[in-house]
Amino acid sequence: MTADIRIFPEAPGLMDYLASQWLDQALQAAAAGRVFTVALCGGRTPQGLFSRLAQPSLRDSIPWKNVHLFWGDERCVPPDHEESNYGMARKSFIDSVALPEGQVHRIRGECDPIEEADRYAGEIRQVTGMGQTGYPVLNWVLLGLGIDGHTASLFPGQPCGKEICTVAFHPATGQKRISLTLPMINQAERVTFFVTRCEKAQIVREILSGTAEQDYPAGKVNPGAGRLEWCLDAEAASLLKQS
Ligand code: 6PG
Repeated sequence: MTADIRIFPEAPGLMDYLASQWLDQALQAAAAGRVFTVALCGGRTPQGLFSRLAQPSLRDSIPWKNVHLFWGDERCVPPDHEESNYGMARKSFIDSVALPEGQVHRIRGECDPIEEADRYAGEIRQVTGMGQTGYPVLNWVLLGLGIDGHTASLFPGQPCGKEICTVAFHPATGQKRISLTLPMINQAERVTFFVTRCEKAQIVREILSGTAEQDYPAGKVNPGAGRLEWCLDAEAASLLKQS
């Protein structure tokens, strides 16, 4: 699997691209009479994309009735907690768009993690059905990248899981997380990493140049039959050799 690597001079251009891709894919789904399932990532980076989705020009063009939102991972905190990935997305764009409530599939961070991982897997299956490999297939999984090579809440040195969802722990804080597993992410039709800021340049180079000294979870994302792309701003790409 080769990844499409797209480098943007600055983060705003990268976010414009992702927002336009969101619109295109949602319109294609609506034209085909099917749903468009997207798994969001957490952290700071997606803010730029979320704010664009709430802008009237884009907000009013996206066929939200076809969109189903999921999360690639969630912190085990209540939805109104400042660290909730769902809470951040709700404030940033969900409250501003005409997305039917039943199509916002949040991970219930306030519940028992093991029970919730199982429940959430069932919710994904309910909407997407089952793929040929026994895993549900999401149309688009958006991923961030940590400087330690984690993605979603799959951290180095922890199992990447075999089920649909797994429980993980933030290595520094011990905070419990619920995450899609690596095999689940790798079933997606499209997986897009979007990475900005110079602090990520070293881990981006290690993963994309194949010189990683250790097995980073982000380096194991490889959606076999699907499409893998890395969207980087110039700072995050600054250590990549220009071919
Ligand atoms: C989370 C994310 C996580 C994030 C990376 C990058 O719940 O924190 O899903 O995988 O995408 O840590 O975070 P930043 O965008 O804040 O650098």
